[in-house]
Amino acid sequence: MNRPYVFCHMETSLDGKITGPFMNIGTGDDGWFYEEAFSKHGHYRMQGWLSGRKTTEENFTDHRKPRLDPTASVPAGDYIADDTADKYYISIDTHGVLGWERPTIDYGETHAAVIEILTERTGAAYKAFLRSIGISYLVAGEKELDAPLALSKLKDLFGMETIMLGGGGILNWSFIKQGLCDELSLMLAPAADGSPDTPAVFQAVPGLSDTQPVSFTLTSVEERKSTVWLRYRINS
Ligand SMILES: NC(=O)c1ccc[n+]([C@@H]2O[C@H](COP(=O)([O-])OP(=O)(O)OC[C@H]3O[C@@H](n4cnc5c(N)ncnc54)[C@H](OP(=O)(O)O)[C@@H]3O)[C@@H](O)[C@H]2O)c1
Repeated sequence: MNRPYVFCHMETSLDGKITGPFMNIGTGDDGWFYEEAFSKHGHYRMQGWLSGRKTTEENFTDHRKPRLDPTASVPAGDYIADDTADKYYISIDTHGVLGWERPTIDYGETHAAVIEILTERTGAAYKAFLRSIGISYLVAGEKELDAPLALSKLKDLFGMETIMLGGGGILNWSFIKQGLCDELSLMLAPAADGSPDTPAVFQAVPGLSDTQPVSFTLTSVEERKSTVWLRYRINS
């Protein structure tokens, strides 16, 4: 398949959670999670990272809604506002609900141009909204997301060779179940909270994925200040 290399890089509690009260006591990693994927000195060299709609709402668009012009029309197909950025933040948003205010995001010291992944059923009004802000979008799939097509477009149109699958759990599992993730990189923080309500590193959702198990082969283990970095190959 013509697609970038995909690694899933996540920070979790000892009980496998990716957000929640455990974060209030600090993960204790001193920026190790960021360093390995985002810094020049880290292990990975990626051109973009991919997030689910919920992760983007929580971390970047703050649950804002877009201002739409219902009379707007746009040409069919993809829209590329900027294919020269050093890094890209890619969000799945098949329903077109993310209320962006600018075409870039900042995460730590990383500055990235936003790319939205839509489907044919995403409305013209939302596409026009993205164009008005200067946000690129790729159309992948008719009614449902065609994830292999999205990845091949990221490679062909933006030259991406390596992409980080950056959560949340719903996105991660849907890509792993489709055989679209090559490697899992877990930073296991020395903290837990037992919360029954917070998302886990993987979550099946009817229509997107199932609960048939997947096996992993451990390829590397490192430890720093009680945080453990586990890397696995994902068995097909
Ligand atoms: N600790 C970490 O390293 C880390 C990293 C990232 C995120 N997080 C946290 O994770 C939490 C969110 O995780 P989550 O699992 O609840 O949600 P998520 O994966 O961020 O978003 C799920 C949504 O994304 C869309 N989506 C994902 N995969 C799709 C697919 N294959 N096809 C079509 N649509 C797809 C769907 O949106 P629609 O419902 O619009 O269809 C789905 O409901 C946040 O609290 C965030 O802060 C933690």
